[in-house]
Amino acid sequence: MTEQQKRILSAILLPAIATVLFFLWSIFLDPHTSGYDAEYVGSKTCGECHTQIYPEWQRSPHANMTRDPSPISVVGNFDGGNWMLPPEARRPFGDEQPAAKMYNRDGKYYMALRHPG
Ligand code: HEC
Repeated sequence: MTEQQKRILSAILLPAIATVLFFLWSIFLDPHTSGYDAEYVGSKTCGECHTQIYPEWQRSPHANMTRDPSPISVVGNFDGGNWMLPPEARRPFGDEQPAAKMYNRDGKYYMALRHPG
């Protein structure tokens, strides 16, 4: 092998080997095992950077809607409460019964819907 052939070969081979090694490294040595490798950090973490929108979000219904039901997060009356359809949504006759009855059993919240008809 001549000197020139060696130089050409190394000019092609070395970058090719480096590229292959880089891809192998990125596939096998990446500390993230998947694109979904994450831990739950909680909403307070978001507020550390998103300082303007975080207090607004906290006052909005969105802050409560995905919480587990508990006496703190549930605002409806689940202690034997009834939910009536708004008057404009009721049928002319026979719709005076509650559309749903709410109750609490063993710390769980239930909403029994009246069967239509
Ligand atoms: C370390 C700071 C930091 C933290 C912590 C953080 N963010 Fe962000 N977030 C940013 C930055 C910076 C951007 C803007 C990125 C861009 O525009 O490229 C952004 C953008 C966003 C956007 C897109 C907003 C838009 O108008 O397009 C959403 C949604 C978002 N973040 C939600 C969250 C949530 C939810 C959390 C908590 C789980 C969170 N962020 C935590 C810094 C942060």
